[in-house]
Amino acid sequence: MKGRVEAIIGAQWGDEGKGRVVDALASRVDVVARYQGGANAGHTVIVEGEKYVFHLLPSGMLYSGKTCVIGNGVVVDPEQLLKELKELQDRGKDRARLVISGAAHVVMPYHKTMDGMEERLRGSGKKIGTTQRGIGPCYMDKVNRCGIRVEDLLSEDVLREKLSFNMEIKNMYLTRIFDENPMAFGEVFEEARGWGEKLAPYVGDASLTISSAVESGSNVLLEGAQGTLLDLDHGTYPFVTSSSPVAGGGSVGCGLGPSMIHRVTGVVKAYCTRVGEGPFPTEDTDVDGETLRNRGGEYGATTGRPRRCGWLDLVALKYAVRVNGLHAIALTKLDVLSGFDKIPVCTAYETGGDETIHFSGNTGFLDSVRPVFKHLDGWKKDLGKSRKMEDLPAAARNYVSFIEEETGVPVVLVGVGPSREQSIVQGL
Ligand code: GDP
Ligand code: IMO
Ligand code: MG
Repeated sequence: MKGRVEAIIGAQWGDEGKGRVVDALASRVDVVARYQGGANAGHTVIVEGEKYVFHLLPSGMLYSGKTCVIGNGVVVDPEQLLKELKELQDRGKDRARLVISGAAHVVMPYHKTMDGMEERLRGSGKKIGTTQRGIGPCYMDKVNRCGIRVEDLLSEDVLREKLSFNMEIKNMYLTRIFDENPMAFGEVFEEARGWGEKLAPYVGDASLTISSAVESGSNVLLEGAQGTLLDLDHGTYPFVTSSSPVAGGGSVGCGLGPSMIHRVTGVVKAYCTRVGEGPFPTEDTDVDGETLRNRGGEYGATTGRPRRCGWLDLVALKYAVRVNGLHAIALTKLDVLSGFDKIPVCTAYETGGDETIHFSGNTGFLDSVRPVFKHLDGWKKDLGKSRKMEDLPAAARNYVSFIEEETGVPVVLVGVGPSREQSIVQGL
């Protein structure tokens, strides 16, 4: 019998807890694959009190006997990837077999410089608040058909030709537009050649690796990075990332036909956070937002920036259900809501005297809306030791049911703490 493919995607603005959900489900599958984004991601997994933050490596790396794949849709920063691998090796935890798609694009040093420079040029009011990991400029080269792919690092001749063409133009940008010093070809070439040598043992064909596994009965998890509202097409453009975190990106970013994805699970934080600029209708800039940040430890796993915090937005979540075709929801950080008397949940937007339940990524629209909140009963109990739904207080169970009723999507996993075992899994 053929294996099954499940996509685990971020349903909000990223940092929903995708890493911990992938880790919780990884024991049931044989392959875990990243399909988009790059080292802008920071996916936290906590096992037996040990914390791991994955930026490029899939969150299944801690399991022996599994295969972890970096798909063609990912942009690979080899410096970061090798650092991450080394750290995991030093801890004796690089347990899975790693396959990196030869067709994945390489984040070069000039991409990172350009990311910073472009943000500076945009200035306040227009800046995106990127992670400065070179993501946008690398995808620009990919779309412009001049990018350097992982497979190009393996041939000195190909690398030399592609890099010299690129650096001629990049150095014009750096010197004439950004008033920076040019980069030395020799240094970048030598560094990239070294990456090729180190990465060579891992380079392969993501599509073939995954589809052969499925053919032979293995199950697969596709691990999204970022989130639906940061999607290049469906997010709050231009305050988005440069890839497709939505479930459809999983097909393109791993070379799998859409019909090969059997199930899509959206990871949803029990409230909302956003890091970087852009609209956020349910943001709470007051004391409750601060409480959420402190209780939830809401600081970026990649940049350390404080995350903006606010309440669950069902208008945005229903949109995520639609654009991803969600079959299921994994609800994380329910424990963080313990202690509030009432918990606001946004059920509609008010704009120009009307109410709407339809989200749009248009920033003008989002700037104009005012959230309409329903206030659900809170609970006091610490949820950290709950392992089944019956262990939760009635008000917390009601919070979960309310989300299921409003979205029409079942909640199959509830996170009650950051550790692997702090999950309530139901109906899986
Ligand atoms: P990702 O990028 O979607 O993988 O999420 P991050 O790792 O960036 O951010 C999620 C943060 O919440 C991490 O610090 C996790 O350890 C933590 N976390 C995940 N699930 C839970 C949960 O159910 N409860 C609590 N308290 N923390 C959680
Ligand atoms: P994970 O996978 C949260 C945000 C940045 C910025 C915008 C564009 O951990 O959920 P970029 O560097 O991608 O060009 O920045 O996207 N961003 C994230 N926010 N979680 C992430 O990843 C993010 N990756 C990028 O803050 O607003
Ligand atoms: Mg993160």
